[in-house]
Amino acid sequence: DGDVFKYYSEGEWKKSPSGKSVSIINPTTRKPQYKVQACTQQEVNKVMETAKIAQKQWAKTPLWKRAELLHKAAAILKEHKAPIADCLVKEIAKPAKDSVTEVVRSGDLISYCAEEGVRILGEGKFLVSDSFPGNERTKYCLTSKVPLGVVLAIPPFNYPVNLAVSKIGPALIAGNSLVLKPPTQGAVACLHMVHCFHLAGFPKGLISCVTGKGSEIGDFLTMHPGVNCISFTGGDTGIAISKKAGMIPLQMELGGKDACIVLEDADLDLVASNIIKGGFSYSGQRCTAVKVVLVMESVADTLVEKVKAKVAKLTVGSPEDDCDITPVVSESSANFIEGLVMDAKQKGATFCQSYKREGNLIWPLLLDNVQPDMRIAWEEPFGPILPVIRITSVEEGIHHCNASNFGLQGCIFTRDINKAMLISDAMETGTVQINSAPARGPDHFPFQGLKDSGIGSQGITNSINMMTKIKSTVINLP
Ligand code: G3H
Repeated sequence: DGDVFKYYSEGEWKKSPSGKSVSIINPTTRKPQYKVQACTQQEVNKVMETAKIAQKQWAKTPLWKRAELLHKAAAILKEHKAPIADCLVKEIAKPAKDSVTEVVRSGDLISYCAEEGVRILGEGKFLVSDSFPGNERTKYCLTSKVPLGVVLAIPPFNYPVNLAVSKIGPALIAGNSLVLKPPTQGAVACLHMVHCFHLAGFPKGLISCVTGKGSEIGDFLTMHPGVNCISFTGGDTGIAISKKAGMIPLQMELGGKDACIVLEDADLDLVASNIIKGGFSYSGQRCTAVKVVLVMESVADTLVEKVKAKVAKLTVGSPEDDCDITPVVSESSANFIEGLVMDAKQKGATFCQSYKREGNLIWPLLLDNVQPDMRIAWEEPFGPILPVIRITSVEEGIHHCNASNFGLQGCIFTRDINKAMLISDAMETGTVQINSAPARGPDHFPFQGLKDSGIGSQGITNSINMMTKIKSTVINLP
């Protein structure tokens, strides 16, 4: 069956013996766009077995050679940005320009991993024993960073390529092998990206990509005894994975409810443009999207007017036309978002625009005067719907932010840097941005969530370190 994309195992493109496939629905047309192999547990076993063998050789490959191959893969990926971006447009309805940006950013990320890896993995420590009480200078300890083994990477639909390479790059430079389970929406973009690694000439079995239904292979992958580390980005499936996973390092990034706290002295034009960028880019389908605005009552009317004027200018339509607002990823996602909107309506939120939906396309909507009893005050819509809560004190804003079960990022707008620092310290989130919308990048910055937003810290340097362990050798003198 020629029109089903093959999966990648043992350095080859293969069909699953299951003979089954999974359809990928184009969010814009709502019709099947592509098909991928429905791999079974048997194929997963094979991939794990070869990943283990390939890793042993790879760990012995000189670091500079590993870096060279990664640079090669990065260049090939950038050369193929157009067809990969085209898949993103069709699979996840990401606007055309942003799709290209995602691929280019991914190439840069891989190169940066190679550069960062040769520096940080090229250094170890040398310790002497006589600093600890009771010891003479008779023990010399040498440490270095060694790979973990097989890393399982599970990226989400919203950045299938970028959030895959943010796991693949650090894993490979550190000497690990990698098994990729792409999201269904975005799987074909991932397969194309993996092909760039194939073309770069990585050893057989070092990287593999298994597609299929989560219900069939999800738990089997995450609980597989061959896996030595899991790096997952997505929704609350991550919480289930961490409960079931064995005694292995986990890196999890599971969404957020990023608050935007606006003080009375803020530059409201700057705030409005950041709310638009932060709340509505990729139709709000980013874990770091601004998901609740907490604005001081005295400036709320002015801010809401400014944001409303900008919302009116957002273009709504297809990703091919590079519209600002494009269809959300699936019908069930659109239904969920609509549920949040209806709940807010019933409980008396002020609609700054009228609610409009056609298929999976939802028009941008700002909800003012949102109250804590509304679901939208707490839940993550992953859509172009943004609640505004009016506050009468900064403490109220901090309290709302910290009452969330999420703690990814947040932002504060004020001209008073001293106040901003105090509020930043009080906010229980992994990152606080002062005078800008939340964002993961630049990709070497640390990126981490507190509470239900995740485990561990990402960003290139942290991921490389997390995907290694310390090995010491102690020389004992007579
Ligand atoms: O969706 C989660 C991503 O990690 C957010 O990345 O801030 O670059 O959009 P971004």
